[in-house]
Amino acid sequence: MQANNQKIVVLGTGGTIAGESHSEQEALTYQAAQRSVEDLLQAVAGQSNVLPKALHSFKIETEQVSQIDSKDMNFAIWHQLAIRCNHWLSQSDVQAVVITHGTDTLEETAYFLSQVIQRNKPIVLTCAMRPANFKDADGPQNMRDALNTASQLSGHGVWLVAAGEIHQSQYVQKVHPTRLNAFDSGEWGAAGTICDDEIRWLANSSALQKVQHSNAPFDILELPAPNEWPWVEVLMNHVETNPKLIQSLQAAGVRGLVVAGTGNASVSQVMKEALLEAQSKGVEIRLASRCLQGPVVQTANHAFKTTSELNPSKARVALVLDVLSKTQSHKC
Ligand code: SIN
Repeated sequence: MQANNQKIVVLGTGGTIAGESHSEQEALTYQAAQRSVEDLLQAVAGQSNVLPKALHSFKIETEQVSQIDSKDMNFAIWHQLAIRCNHWLSQSDVQAVVITHGTDTLEETAYFLSQVIQRNKPIVLTCAMRPANFKDADGPQNMRDALNTASQLSGHGVWLVAAGEIHQSQYVQKVHPTRLNAFDSGEWGAAGTICDDEIRWLANSSALQKVQHSNAPFDILELPAPNEWPWVEVLMNHVETNPKLIQSLQAAGVRGLVVAGTGNASVSQVMKEALLEAQSKGVEIRLASRCLQGPVVQTANHAFKTTSELNPSKARVALVLDVLSKTQSHKC
């Protein structure tokens, strides 16, 4: 049996899970980030007198890291969040960290943490699509499932638990603006499901954890202050692309560009020429796909590096870290 001095730490960042609307009937017009993470935890206990069995032997501690709508997430909060994850996961009595987060940029935060936290323990993000005072709020159940999952996972890995599903940070993305199960991992599928507190892994979880290992050549403690992190933008290839946007960004000092290319990460001829020009002036270029599913397959036709399974917003996180690591190694 688990000794009961083990802890799960819940870090609050805001989002709809902590949101409030004017009435319990109102699902879409509300203010995100109104309730504290401690209140959210109380709502889980209030939902039922009995917590999942796996949680009985854990103490649960909370910390409010930020209180924002995740559309406003920024590097400074990421830095702080990663420092707090690192702090808690380095304690021998902490089993895992759970993070409450808005759904809108959750996949970016999850991927970022998977790349900068080197601790061999899990991080589980959770969220909600309905505000906390909505009549059928999904937050308490999602939080319960996230805590339950966090109590049973081991090893490095960053996961999302929501709507009865467990997803890996690398593959998951928000695919729907309003429905309750707003997340999907495309052709990789969910890693597992949770129903009535029972976790069912759909794939071998230790194999999944290996997939999630960090490629970052530095950890969070080595990152410079967030105001020194590089400016990286995402552009899209579409009909009638205009090279002036790339030229203006390069002139304004952008350090990296991720292109959400068409199909298997293709870009128009005019865009390719403008990107080659920007690259020759030191801008790092990566090609992702604007398609919703499937990895990009690098071919001889690609003039720039492609980003495999990372969608454009995660490819941007990877490029920020890439540029940072190059800047860091030049300083050494
Ligand atoms: C947010 O991302 O903070 C607001 C939207 C949500 O959590 O669903």
